[in-house]
Amino acid sequence: MTELELCKKAHDAMEKAYVPYSRFRVGAALLTKSGKVYTGCNIENASYGATNCAERTAIFKAVSEGEKEFEAIAITGGHEGDDKETCTPCGICRQVISEFCDRDFRIFLAKEHGTAYDEYTLEQLLPAGFALEK
Ligand code: THU
Repeated sequence: MTELELCKKAHDAMEKAYVPYSRFRVGAALLTKSGKVYTGCNIENASYGATNCAERTAIFKAVSEGEKEFEAIAITGGHEGDDKETCTPCGICRQVISEFCDRDFRIFLAKEHGTAYDEYTLEQLLPAGFALEK
């Protein structure tokens, strides 16, 4: 699985977004250390706070299937009709990523229909993040 293949999967997952309120679609593709990919989209709700972000959809799908070791995640998003498609993970998603991933975990912010990306580490996006000893 190349970085760009993961970005394309995030782009494809974005098509499934359920966004009747914001019209802002997000897709994520999470690569496990065992080589599997779990995708996710944002799923909104009339009670706005019940909305689930694409990244957490992908992570919760994976963890609920017994996967907790992750290599990288690709994320893409944008308003419907905006083909720049860039979306950085929200603070809650950064914290959820940090529950399972090391500081050097790779985060690809995919753009241009999954054909390009900017790369960050979790440490760059969540410096001095909160964690408890397990
Ligand atoms: N959203 C995500 O899915 N992931 C993020 O990291 C940022 C925000 C969603 C939530 C909501 O459905 C829409 O984008 C607009 O905030």
